Amino acid sequence: MIEVSDLSYEYAESGLVLRGVDYSQRAGESVALLGANGSGKTTFALHLNGILQGQGQVSVGGIRVENATLEQVRQKVGFVFQSAENQLFLPTVIEDVMFGLLNQGVAVDEAKRRAEEMLESMHLSAYADRNPFHLSAGEKRRAALAGVLVMQPEVLILDEPTTFLDPPGIRELAAMLKRQDMSKLIITHDSQFALATTTRAVFFEKGRIVAEGPTREIIERFDWL
Ligand SMILES: Nc1ncnc2c1ncn2[C@@H]1O[C@H](COP(=O)(O)OP(=O)(O)OP(=O)(O)O)[C@@H](O)[C@H]1O
Ligand SMILES: [Mg+2]
Repeated sequence: MIEVSDLSYEYAESGLVLRGVDYSQRAGESVALLGANGSGKTTFALHLNGILQGQGQVSVGGIRVENATLEQVRQKVGFVFQSAENQLFLPTVIEDVMFGLLNQGVAVDEAKRRAEEMLESMHLSAYADRNPFHLSAGEKRRAALAGVLVMQPEVLILDEPTTFLDPPGIRELAAMLKRQDMSKLIITHDSQFALATTTRAVFFEKGRIVAEGPTREIIERFDWL
């Protein structure tokens, strides 16, 4: 589902941040991306839907990620950003959750029905007509997730999804993710959450993947618990 070979990326101000990353992920697999702050996890993930394009090759679902394929790729890859609040931009939560569906040509009634269902499963029904800017941080995060999950992407990328969530919210998110059978790539500093939601982990260090294996083994090896 995901194939990355020899990927390097340099930010103008930071120099080389990814240094020849090779990565692959099977369809339906759920993988944790672990590593210290600044090790390149977010930068790596942003290549999977073409927000960043570095040196090397990236393909998703057999499609090479490049300018000509961005639209196709973004239909496959759902991304909840590390700062998910930037992802909400319409006057109401329900409109935000419907936005991607409408963009894909889903009829308004159908989009509304699916968005309402999704909000219900995220315990956000009461917020449907509220302005997303006036939600709490955790509610914003759940609203952003709802907008991505409602699209039923083949690959779901979550960058620090537990940030701002309370413990019951984290447990609920883990349970919900387990019910989804798409491929998942989860960037997290929460080892319990990684253990609950993924079977395999890769560990980033200074722009390289320095280890991969069963999530528990990687967490123990790097004393990441
Ligand atoms: N837009 C940018 N411009 C310049 N440098 C950047 C930019 N974004 C990130 N960097 C730098 O690139 C390096 C990798 O950052 P990245 O955000 O990928 O790390 P991360 O592993 O996701 O960290 P965290 O766990 O803190 O989210 C860091 O040194 C960071 O300062
Ligand atoms: Mg990050």
